[in-house]
Amino acid sequence: MSELRVGVVGTGTMGSDHVRRLTRTTTGARVSVVVEPDRERRTAALAVAPGAVGMAGLDEALAAGVLDAVLIAAPGPQHESTVAACVRAGLPTLCEKPLTPDPESAWRLVEAERAGGRRLIQVGFMRRYDVEYAALRARITEGRSGELLMIHAVHRNAGTPVGYAESMLITDSVVHELDAVPWLAGSPITSIEVRRGRPNPRAAAGLREPILVLLRLADGTLADVEMNVLAASYQVITEAVLAGDVVRIGDVGHHADYTTRFAEAYDREVQAWVDSVAAQAISGPSAWDGYVAAVCCRAGVQALTAEGPVVVDLPPRPTFYA
Ligand SMILES: NC(=O)c1ccc[n+]([C@@H]2O[C@H](COP(=O)([O-])OP(=O)(O)OC[C@H]3O[C@@H](n4cnc5c(N)ncnc54)[C@H](O)[C@@H]3O)[C@@H](O)[C@H]2O)c1
Repeated sequence: MSELRVGVVGTGTMGSDHVRRLTRTTTGARVSVVVEPDRERRTAALAVAPGAVGMAGLDEALAAGVLDAVLIAAPGPQHESTVAACVRAGLPTLCEKPLTPDPESAWRLVEAERAGGRRLIQVGFMRRYDVEYAALRARITEGRSGELLMIHAVHRNAGTPVGYAESMLITDSVVHELDAVPWLAGSPITSIEVRRGRPNPRAAAGLREPILVLLRLADGTLADVEMNVLAASYQVITEAVLAGDVVRIGDVGHHADYTTRFAEAYDREVQAWVDSVAAQAISGPSAWDGYVAAVCCRAGVQALTAEGPVVVDLPPRPTFYA
């Protein structure tokens, strides 16, 4: 079969990494179009992907008929219109997290996809493709070490970008745990609470951190997440407390950021996506998962200022996503 022609939309930190990955690591695909309004970034991405053409907007790329699939790594507020255009064009789309920044727009994409009758949207929750995460989930699911009781998660970043707002502790970072924890446990989140201790005096004005996020799942599992964006290095560690054992993952040394810490997970994610598109059987994190994460993020942001737990209220999962 010929190579999948992938358009990459947005080539900042993540998009340029994906262009390199699709060109040098992934098999069965190549970058056919780079859609990036910033001329310098577009030129830099094109230098990595021989044969690709640069365009300033997705509409131009869709009209040119040179796309089999689209990878979106533009900022979150651009995701709804971009994913919707891909769905209208019938193109499989891997959209970096978040699917969209709020539940209403995420739900509109769920409805658009369902109206088309087949799965087209995958959300970039790459931890599901990390070898250790996958093994931990299998360990929990198989039940050999007894049922899951608790999860302790640590999510530490080595600094904050310019313009970092406190809500981004949830929407940019804890969002990964909001997807990974229920995925590991096999049970949805029912409430989110944020607890604060002593603030880091090094934090910028308006940013009170670290925070402790408490997640309660429908089956009674309790998870805590230390979210800390002023740590010495990027660290993501998870400990699962099972009835008969404790399993710890993520002791993988010090990294500056996610691009190296999860490099292999991104490789596996993109390869699995390309393979599933070729097989017309997309099965990764879905638009529904993106919607659920958006609902959890809203509750998590409310929990930053609320007293006690904030309830996560989800509709039943549509059978389309069973
Ligand atoms: N999965 C992960 O671990 C992970 C990590 C970091 C970022 N992300 C996500 O990836 C996405 C991109 O993040 P980033 O850190 O690379 O951001 P970035 O700001 O470095 O890059 C975004 C790029 O998109 C371009 N852009 C803006 N509007 C556009 C449009 N309409 N069409 C095409 N391109 C457009 C910008 O010019 C910029 O080059 C975000 O959704 C972010 O949350 C995911």
